[in-house]
Amino acid sequence: MCKAIEMLMREHRFIETMLNTLEVFAERLEPGTASDRVVVRDFGDFFAEFADRCHHGKEEEGLFRKMEEHGIPNDHGPIAVMLSDHREGREHVAVFHEVGAGDGPLSPEECEAVKRHATQYADHLRAHIQKEDNVLYPMSEQLIPDEEMDRLARDFERFEEDVMGAGAHERYHEMGRRLARQYPRAAESGAASGLRR
Ligand SMILES: [Fe+2]
Repeated sequence: MCKAIEMLMREHRFIETMLNTLEVFAERLEPGTASDRVVVRDFGDFFAEFADRCHHGKEEEGLFRKMEEHGIPNDHGPIAVMLSDHREGREHVAVFHEVGAGDGPLSPEECEAVKRHATQYADHLRAHIQKEDNVLYPMSEQLIPDEEMDRLARDFERFEEDVMGAGAHERYHEMGRRLARQYPRAAESGAASGLRR
């Protein structure tokens, strides 16, 4: 597997771990605890910044563009489906931001909204990741010559520095590790495999 795709797949594993963490948090959520609002805000920030801006950014600005150059259209077919998935995900994350921006303990309605959107978002993003891992990424490797893929990997590294800023990747990994420690799955310790680097 080429380096660019390996980088994207590694991010998928981390995002999946964070979806598990989000679900554990949402399942336990009850109205009335002020500190939960901060955690909703943290999840909103993580998924907006790491999953969307950093990871989907590399796909939309990098990989998908390259695939378009090699003849895959972006207004129908697999890339159009991926773009529409990304947009749908943003609607769920917007709810976490909205709730996160409020004050005081979470109301019963806010708890319900977070639970509902956490489940929908996790299901949605897992299915989306499967489509990329099993269909879109293999297709891109067939289509894009090795030297262009090498350039893409370098572009991804530059994207991390220029768009996300130095240290951002590590900051989000740290945030993820902290949340996963706080909300471990019953069968898992906090050191979930997707969080090891
Ligand atoms: Fe992806």
